[in-house]
Amino acid sequence: MAEKNDSWVLMVTAQTPTNIAVIKYWGKRDENLILPINDSISVTLDPAHLCTTTTVAVSPAFTQDRMWLNGKEISLSGGRYQNCLREIRSRANDVEDKKKGIKITKKGWEKLHLHIASYNNFPTAAGLASSAAGFACLVFSLAKLMNAKEDNGQLSAIARQGSGSACRSLYGGFVKWIMGKEENGSDSIAAQLVDEKHWDELVILIAVVSSRQKETSSTSGMRETVETSPLIQHRASEVVPKRIIQMEEAIRNRDFPTFTRLTCSDSNQFHAVCLDTSPPIFYMNDTSHRIISCVEKWNRSEGTPQVAYTFDAGPNAVLIARNRKAATLLLQRLLFYFPPESGADLNSYVVGDKSILKDAG
Ligand code: DP6
Repeated sequence: MAEKNDSWVLMVTAQTPTNIAVIKYWGKRDENLILPINDSISVTLDPAHLCTTTTVAVSPAFTQDRMWLNGKEISLSGGRYQNCLREIRSRANDVEDKKKGIKITKKGWEKLHLHIASYNNFPTAAGLASSAAGFACLVFSLAKLMNAKEDNGQLSAIARQGSGSACRSLYGGFVKWIMGKEENGSDSIAAQLVDEKHWDELVILIAVVSSRQKETSSTSGMRETVETSPLIQHRASEVVPKRIIQMEEAIRNRDFPTFTRLTCSDSNQFHAVCLDTSPPIFYMNDTSHRIISCVEKWNRSEGTPQVAYTFDAGPNAVLIARNRKAATLLLQRLLFYFPPESGADLNSYVVGDKSILKDAG
């Protein structure tokens, strides 16, 4: 514990981007440990646009663990937060700040409380995978504060227990979440396939179709799918394993046509298993469907794909353009087909990868 006085505060700040799956995770085999029924692959976004910044602080003056999200206090009593905090605390090591005269021993961490402040630089309510960036950042910043020696792979297995998709945000570039085989989840970790420089001509654009909070959360949606959809088993055991192999190859070879085919098919199959759930889950809306038609027509008319689309558990489109030129043309098309004054339910475009945040609303 503290050697000299009780008025010190030690803190660490970290920033973590969100990620978007191109081969989706949907369905758990263990709800508590958050173990998936299939591997998944994602691309991590540029932190300048969609990221969480978290400051974690420890002080003998703190009487309980507390957390604020975007300035508002939230409860830490949920099992997911508790699992992450417990796992990181058990890996804490001695920490010393000679200048401030602070020394916290491995044992000392057990008696100290934490204050956590987290901010998203994008609307949390817009359903833009905020939990992925949030839990990844929480685990990463706590590991730094507590001098945990775990590498990013091991930290990903802890972030996974906060939210499955969070494990993939510990790395940049393209990332694979290996589902693993162990019952305790020790091998269900994320691994980087290629770093962010490997395919840096891609431009990611997010069309915010609706900023309303989704009606069915990913957690309950995937539970209902696993319980009721006959299609999900076929997807998890037959379709995804083949797609994972093909997707890894497409990414390594920067093969945009194959990448697009796999990304779009996987998004469509994910929404098909949602429809196959009883009662059916509708994440996309008419505007999402119109965006798909618009991209499909354009890709066909060009002869070679210009843009891949993917939709998570909500109506917002994530559009991955093959390069800057295609991204500019895409933005022009979106503005033409969904002009801001038309009342179409498309209110802003968030453009990733060294680009701009454009509010067309
Ligand atoms: C459609 O990671 O939010 O975005 O593990 O229950 O927290 P929990 O679910 P979450 O689900 C993400 C689902 C998805 C696909 C994906 O990101 O792979």
